[in-house]
Amino acid sequence: MTQIPTPLTPTLYTYWQSIGFRDHSLLKELSTFNQTLAQKDFQASPEVAHFLGFLVSLLKAKSILEIGTFTGYSTLTMALNLPKDGTIITCDKDQAMTEIAQKYWAKANVAHKISLRLGDALQTLKDLQEDEVTFDLIFIDANKNGYDAYYEEAIRLLRPEGLILLDNTLWHGRLIEDPLPDTQSKAIKELNKKIQQDRRVEMVMLPLSDGLTLVKKVSVPSL
Ligand SMILES: C[S@@+](CC[C@H](N)C(=O)[O-])C[C@H]1O[C@@H](n2cnc3c(N)ncnc32)[C@H](O)[C@@H]1O
Repeated sequence: MTQIPTPLTPTLYTYWQSIGFRDHSLLKELSTFNQTLAQKDFQASPEVAHFLGFLVSLLKAKSILEIGTFTGYSTLTMALNLPKDGTIITCDKDQAMTEIAQKYWAKANVAHKISLRLGDALQTLKDLQEDEVTFDLIFIDANKNGYDAYYEEAIRLLRPEGLILLDNTLWHGRLIEDPLPDTQSKAIKELNKKIQQDRRVEMVMLPLSDGLTLVKKVSVPSL
């Protein structure tokens, strides 16, 4: 058995991106456009986005919550994989970037499935608690210092056996530095430990792109 993962050299990474999934023309277009923005690193990687879309389809998810919209790339990949009656609520506080998102959703004919909530994401999540809605799948991809609070709200808003995905849980490799270089590293490192020990969930972290953690809410928490 091979113990050491195949090193992902830049050349191998380029090959993988060319063969690892089928890119949708609008996702490609939006990703290319995002590269022209100062915040180009905000967008989820194509491989994470396509994996998300695949999971939406595999799990037959119908109600999705996304925390962190930006220009709508990950929203779009999930919306393209939703059934006709599926819906996404997506949260962000950036009006200018989410206006770009709305243009692309309209172009892909999925705008009717997506409800954008502009404002502080934590407040939006608290408002959703009051509406007593639940979700099949929740994607967390906003400010890293807020991840723990988003995770707790997400656990409450997720149906039993539902799935939470957290992006960037390897945080550019900074989590193994000593001392930790920034507050985001500390926040993510503490949350990673908490999730591993959290008896309310089953979990697995994949070293996909910048780290993607999958969390399934169990029906009956173990002792
Ligand atoms: C990493 S980007 C999201 C990328 C997006 N999922 C994609 O794949 O294109 C993070 C987003 O979180 C938003 N954000 C940061 N702090 C927030 C907050 N407190 N409330 C709402 N949105 C916030 C930012 O405006 C930014 O657009």
